[in-house]
Order: sequence, then C-alpha cells, then structure tokens
Amino acid sequence: MIEVETSEEVADAALSRQASMLDGGRSEEMYANPLTADDVSKQFGGGPDFGRLLPWKRSENGHKGPVQVLQGVSFEIRRGEIFGLIGANGSGKSTLIRIFSTLLLPDGGEVRIFGYDAVDESSEVRALINRVSADPSFFRNMSTLENLLFFGRVYGLSPTEIKRRVPVILGRLGFEVEKAREPMSHLSRGQQQKIAVARSFLTSPVLMLLDEPTTGLDPRSKRDVQAFIRQVQAEHDATILLTTHDMQEAELLCDRISFIAGGRIVAEGTPLELRERVARGRSLDAITMETVFMELTGKSIEEDEEREEVMVHG
Ligand SMILES: Nc1ncnc2c1ncn2[C@@H]1O[C@H](COP(=O)(O)OP(=O)(O)OP(=O)(O)O)[C@@H](O)[C@H]1O
Ligand SMILES: [Mg+2]
Repeated sequence: MIEVETSEEVADAALSRQASMLDGGRSEEMYANPLTADDVSKQFGGGPDFGRLLPWKRSENGHKGPVQVLQGVSFEIRRGEIFGLIGANGSGKSTLIRIFSTLLLPDGGEVRIFGYDAVDESSEVRALINRVSADPSFFRNMSTLENLLFFGRVYGLSPTEIKRRVPVILGRLGFEVEKAREPMSHLSRGQQQKIAVARSFLTSPVLMLLDEPTTGLDPRSKRDVQAFIRQVQAEHDATILLTTHDMQEAELLCDRISFIAGGRIVAEGTPLELRERVARGRSLDAITMETVFMELTGKSIEEDEEREEVMVHG
C-alpha cells in the first residue's frame, strides 16, 4: 500500500532543505533573490577561419562570423513568482536557461542563484534548481515508474520518498498510474513531456527553470500542467522561470513577463503594466499579449529572429 504524503509535508521538507542549504553565512537578502542575471552575454561559433589558410576549404559564402546570441541580458526574479521569458524562435531563451542551469558558460556578465555564482559555485546552484527542457531524455525501454525511481535516486531521494510522491504528482498531472507501468517508448511525445514535468518536481526544487513545458500538449494536458505549475508555486514556495510561445499561458501564469528579442530584453513588467505601456488610450481589455509583444518588439511571436552577426576583433 502506497502512503500519500500531504502537500504540507512536501512543502515543509522542501523548505527545510532549502533553509539548510542556504545557511552558512548566506544573508536574508540572498535568500530573497532566487535569480539575478547581470549583463549576460554569449556568442556561438566563429573559431579559426581555416578558409583563409586552406583555400581549398573555402566555402562559397566565406567564413561565418560568430553569432552573438545574448547581448547584455539583465533581470531579477523575485522569490515565489512565476517569471515568463517570451521571445520568438532563436531569440536566446533556451541559451539563457542553459546558462542558468550551469550547462553552458556565459562569455560575460554574472548569474547568481540564491546568491551563488552560477559559474564558480555551480554545484550549490545545481542543488537548488531543476530544468525541464523541450527535449527531455529518459530510458525509453524502462517504464515511467522505473525512470522516476531512477532519477529520484539521482536527485538524492529515498525509494520510499519517491514511491510516496510519484502517485501524487502523476495524479495532479492527470497521468494514469497504470500507464506509468508501460515502457516509456509507448508514450506519446506529450505524455513524455508530462513525465518530464513530473520528474522535475520530484525533489520540490526551489527554483524551477521550465523551458516550454507545455509545447506540444493537447488543450486538456496543457491545462493540467498549468494548474500543476500554479499549485506548486502556491503550496511549495517555489520560484519559477517559464518560457512559452503561448501568450495566453504567459498571461494566465506569469506574475511578471520579460520580452526577449535578438538576445536583448526589450520590455519587462506585469502583464497589466505591459498592456498599459502600449495602450495609448485604448481599453486594456481590448489589448492582447500578442499585440503587446508586436508593439514592444516590432515582431510577431511567430516570426523567426534574424541572426545578428558580429565580427571578432583582434
Ligand atoms: N550550441 C550552439 N551552437 C551554435 N549556435 C547555437 C547553439 N545553441 C543555440 N544556438 C543559436 O543561438 C540562437 C538562440 O537559440 P536558443 O535555442 O537560445 O533560442 P530560443 O529562444 O530558445 O528559441 P526557440 O523558441 O526556438 O526554442 C539561435 O540562433 C541558435 O541557432
Ligand atoms: Mg528554446
């Protein structure tokens, strides 16, 4: 018989884990700041131009310069909020999330997670965050339950704790426990996406980085995941960074939203503040987030960003 842990117990455990991690001279001020990004920049590509040295290797369009993907991104996420990062394809959202989750080094700037430096104190940072990416990887021949058991153990949970939490989380996500006994290769992409969300919330991390957690989900599943995210925020004192292309979702879930275009933050505020910014006398109800995005970024969310190329000097 599987015991079901109440949400209060889960919240208490998460909070005490958080408190013990944040001890050791960390001030209340740091504790209040889940994430601070200061002037973060990142470029990809470039490298040596072999075409100049080896003429037979020269390509038709010459050497491609490096691509400046993030250009001085700064923002702060406050404790307990859902912060939305909205931008077109290629605008740099996933790159930023990969930097926050210590998977990628920034070229410049500073990222602090609860006061810890994401580059110099990456193991402390990793203990406090969890990331859901749009392409989650699992052991496809193992069942959902086996996968969750495995990843739960990797995150340092005991098997008893995992067995207690999994049915609660799956239930909240509207995922049948029976289905969870089948190999993950039998699951649709959307179902796997739900399991990725379930896995990331297994440990009640204090900062969640959700990169398009609802992309590709049917409307019902989307609502399940959205409700789950809101519930976790409310009950577990979690702070959540969310990227999405769904403006309604952003409006529904996010306390504050940042628009990113061409690797720069172009606007930031509560959904209401952003609407007010473009209203110019129009009724706020008549302004959709799509309109706000278009007016503030000069682009539609569906449009692909142009890559901005920079030359490396020296
Ligand atoms: N490893 C890499 N090497 C080279 N270029 C990269 C790499 N990763 C990302 N890029 C480039 O950086 C830019 C930003 O990519 P990123 O994945 O951060 O965008 P995104 O905002 O998450 O887009 P989407 O909405 O499509 O998920 C793109 O132009 C992409 O081609
Ligand atoms: Mg992305």
